[in-house]
Amino acid sequence: MIDIHTHILPGIDDGAADFDESLDLARAAVADGITAMIATPHHANGRYMNDAAFTREQVERLRESFAAHKIPLDLYIGQEVRIHSDMFDAWSAGELATLAGSRYILLEMPSSTVPKRMLEYIHEFTIMGIRPIIAHPERNAEVVQNPDKLREMVDAGAYGQVTTHSILGGFGKQIERSAWQLCRTGLIHTLSSDAHHIHRRGFRLREAYDRVRSELGEQFEQCYIHNAEAIIANQELIESPVTKTRQKGKSWRNILNFFQS
Ligand SMILES: [Fe+2]
Repeated sequence: MIDIHTHILPGIDDGAADFDESLDLARAAVADGITAMIATPHHANGRYMNDAAFTREQVERLRESFAAHKIPLDLYIGQEVRIHSDMFDAWSAGELATLAGSRYILLEMPSSTVPKRMLEYIHEFTIMGIRPIIAHPERNAEVVQNPDKLREMVDAGAYGQVTTHSILGGFGKQIERSAWQLCRTGLIHTLSSDAHHIHRRGFRLREAYDRVRSELGEQFEQCYIHNAEAIIANQELIESPVTKTRQKGKSWRNILNFFQS
């Protein structure tokens, strides 16, 4: 399995605190069946700045450490870029890293709202040939209330990444419900851990894929697995299936009522 969103780099954000914690996370990932991951430290979120050059150095150091400790895990560079007004200046200055050097960039919204110019940002990236992947939209309060907000982003060229802990209930019932709803309606394209800490927020990727298969069917699991591989390989992502409820043409309101009942 491939995990495209992790905070495994040591001591640079709220993920692994030091090299020992990074190595513990790496060993836990291997035990879970993960063979490759993208390190996506927070960038420009108001607390952490980890530009592309700095992040690249940190990835190199951790890779060497994996080799020294014989940990069979491929590590790639990425960032979790918080949407900010200077984002395109930062892009021009080479401060932003895409996922594993691909055409995909991981963007994080604030937890409470969808930024006003979100669709414009997605459009700007898309015309540059870069496709935004929206990190855990199920945890954004505005998307939870109105999933069409994410629909608009996907229609504008973005993709959705759901977090293992969200679908497994780790962030509470409301986020769990939101996560499954977004999955069922085809607005999620890939699944990853957003792992921060071996105990507090680990991987649970195998468990989450198993749940996706049992709840939604093999097609969804295969879509998410395929897309995680395609991101690292810089290939086209495939569209998500939708559940029968959506295919029957039920309105968003009906779907919402159904899952809240
Ligand atoms: Fe994250």
